[in-house]
Amino acid sequence: MHIIPKPKSLIQLHDREFVPFISAEEIDFAIANMAAQIHDDFGDETPVFVGVLNGAFMVVSDFMKHYKGPCEVSFVKMSSYEGMASTNEVKQLIGLNQDLTGRTVILIEDIIDTGNTIEGLKEMFKRQNVAHFKIATLFFKPEAYKKDIKLDYIGIRIPNKFIVGFGLDYDELGRNLPEVYQLKD
Ligand code: IMP
Ligand code: MG
Repeated sequence: MHIIPKPKSLIQLHDREFVPFISAEEIDFAIANMAAQIHDDFGDETPVFVGVLNGAFMVVSDFMKHYKGPCEVSFVKMSSYEGMASTNEVKQLIGLNQDLTGRTVILIEDIIDTGNTIEGLKEMFKRQNVAHFKIATLFFKPEAYKKDIKLDYIGIRIPNKFIVGFGLDYDELGRNLPEVYQLKD
């Protein structure tokens, strides 16, 4: 059956409008490429793919379908809450209840912006005595990135503008969109 997708237009989430930016096909192509590259690099091991919730749930699901080899999957979440000092955010890693000693761990992110989140995650995984720790992200905003941490696998580089869809939200809305939209200016 042939389905010709209709070009989707402007959408509204809460008080903002968004325009179509990256199609479902382009996203799928980028994810398939990352899966193939990672398989080339670690195909003879059994990597543990660790998705960062909430945003990465859709990337991880599609990534797993493209990855052709033995692998495991797990999810973590960074919970942030206000510390004693009102400006100090305390970040905690939740969901990691598996022994990762000696394993190849590939963190899967939906998007890396300033790099703050990934920096925190890397610190936490360092303490797990993993054999390899690699970072894969579907989207990357090079102009916003402020860290020196090497990003091992990058799907699509995008300009420093807010996007939604494919797991990414604007105040929790938009995660279910199968393609990506950019904030209309
Ligand atoms: P970082 O810590 O600045 O790298 O930001 C990472 C997190 O910020 C992501 O996991 C997203 O939750 C959120 N984020 C950054 N840029 C965007 C965007 O354009 N749209 C939606 N969420 C974003
Ligand atoms: Mg996120």
